[in-house]
Amino acid sequence: MDLGLTGKRAFVSGSTQGIGYAVARALAEEGAAVVLNGRTAAGVDAAVERLRAVVPGADVSGIAADFVDPSQVRGLLSSLGDVDVLVNNVGVFDVAPFDQIADDEWQRYLDVNLMSGVRLSRHALPGMLARGWAGSSSSAASRA
Ligand SMILES: NC(=O)c1ccc[n+]([C@@H]2O[C@H](COP(=O)([O-])OP(=O)(O)OC[C@H]3O[C@@H](n4cnc5c(N)ncnc54)[C@H](OP(=O)(O)O)[C@@H]3O)[C@@H](O)[C@H]2O)c1
Repeated sequence: MDLGLTGKRAFVSGSTQGIGYAVARALAEEGAAVVLNGRTAAGVDAAVERLRAVVPGADVSGIAADFVDPSQVRGLLSSLGDVDVLVNNVGVFDVAPFDQIADDEWQRYLDVNLMSGVRLSRHALPGMLARGWAGSSSSAASRA
């Protein structure tokens, strides 16, 4: 199946492993240039190498940024550039009794699960609209 993604640029948040990595791999196999993301440079570099090895010739790069930290998100957005396909995959949860979840934990959930998608979509959408081409998916939105 040709999804017409050759030459398109895709960013997948939280993609050093798990569902995000699998989505990134599928996009790379479809010919998209893929930008991976995770919290550490070492983790991102390892995932980039892994993906390049399984999809020879793929255009794969990575940007390390922790969505808990708004300053790291600003750094990510300033280096990200145009994105044709945005996959708001990153998300975290802990199993804990409601009355034992402190404010800083709630803030972490909001920053990672909600605001990551808001900030990335706000960055990517104007360019997508200007180019008249967009692909997006948001686990945060589908949960809302
Ligand atoms: N697995 C399931 O059964 C399931 C079910 C329903 C929904 N989901 C949702 O699907 C998404 C992916 O789940 P998954 O199971 O594939 O997750 P996972 O295997 O735990 O992978 C999480 C990914 O997110 C990255 N990450 C975690 N916290 C981050 C942060 N603060 N900033 C940047 N990157 C971060 C991790 O990278 P590093 O560790 O390298 O930083 C890793 O690449 C999540 O939104 C999850 O809630 C999963």
